[in-house]
Amino acid sequence: MTTRMRAVSQRGYGGPDVLELVETDLPVPGRGEALVRVHAAGVNPADWKLRSGAVRKFGVPPFTVGLDLCGVVVALGDDRTAGLRPGDAVYGCAFPPHGAHAEYAVAPVAALAAAPAGIGGVAAAALPVAALTAWQSLVRVAAVGAGQRVLVHAAAGGIGHLAVQIAKARGAHVIGTAREARHAFLRDLGADRLVDYTAHDFAEVVRDVDVVLDPIGGDYGPRSLETLAPGGILVDVRGAGPDRTVVRERAEARGLRFAEFGFTPSGADLEQITGLVERGALRVAVDRVLPLEEAARAHELSESGRVAGKIVLVP
Ligand SMILES: NC(=O)c1ccc[n+]([C@@H]2O[C@H](COP(=O)([O-])OP(=O)(O)OC[C@H]3O[C@@H](n4cnc5c(N)ncnc54)[C@H](OP(=O)(O)O)[C@@H]3O)[C@@H](O)[C@H]2O)c1
Repeated sequence: MTTRMRAVSQRGYGGPDVLELVETDLPVPGRGEALVRVHAAGVNPADWKLRSGAVRKFGVPPFTVGLDLCGVVVALGDDRTAGLRPGDAVYGCAFPPHGAHAEYAVAPVAALAAAPAGIGGVAAAALPVAALTAWQSLVRVAAVGAGQRVLVHAAAGGIGHLAVQIAKARGAHVIGTAREARHAFLRDLGADRLVDYTAHDFAEVVRDVDVVLDPIGGDYGPRSLETLAPGGILVDVRGAGPDRTVVRERAEARGLRFAEFGFTPSGADLEQITGLVERGALRVAVDRVLPLEEAARAHELSESGRVAGKIVLVP
């Protein structure tokens, strides 16, 4: 087996120019970890937040970012394998310093699951973070059920387009916010009603919703409260950073529920997602596939906030 690999290294905090493609030693998996040969790796807003320094939870660069992967297990750090063996095709989450934007990555065994059959490695690599965020927030936090009304903001985005389908699969009536150019795409995924947020104020035209999924934040939080039915829940999935005191207090004062949500990398939950994918209830839209050399461009595109679905890097 080779001992060297190419990886996108982030040499400091800053713009996309801090990313460089380097040749480096293969990482070594520790206890409870797997070394995975990466077939494809998804790009998430977390990647450029980590690159810019807005999020600093993985120590000091240089390190390799990239949280989503699909690939093949080549080695295990110890015998706590959760049933995994070298040669298994898996998808799931890796983390800096040995993230997924490389030819090989290290992933916690608990954050991996068998790759879904029939969709290919590129699509599988686009799923983990966005699908876990959508599934865990809608199912575990909001307990979306049949007949409920769910409002998904940024419905065309990585999380949003999967959330639309997961809520539909649970029997909900789904309303999404997205610019008009995305409406056909979202109707095809099952959205019942779409609000062009560039032309209409959703807070004036949407009412009696049981669950709002908010990946946008800012004034979307307080405005979303206007759309909720009594007892409804607003789930803010932006992750670490912003202070949510105002929206939380406003929700509580009106008898509404508010939850801040951060995804958990979970192989067990990925198996639930695999189930939806394999029965045709969940499809991931890949906006574009770029080579590892174009990681900086992938960050720029993601940071533009205009990607429909996901971007995927291939080594
Ligand atoms: N909490 C967690 O664990 C967790 C996990 C993953 C991600 N996140 C966070 O969640 C956020 C969203 O992630 P993502 O991957 O879904 O992002 P994304 O794919 O980059 O979102 C892009 C989409 O956002 C839409 N959009 C932008 N502004 C909008 C607005 N004002 N109203 C409606 N839609 C709008 C765009 O749609 P149009 O083309 O229609 O404008 C575009 O399709 C990020 O901040 C990310 O860091 C958190």
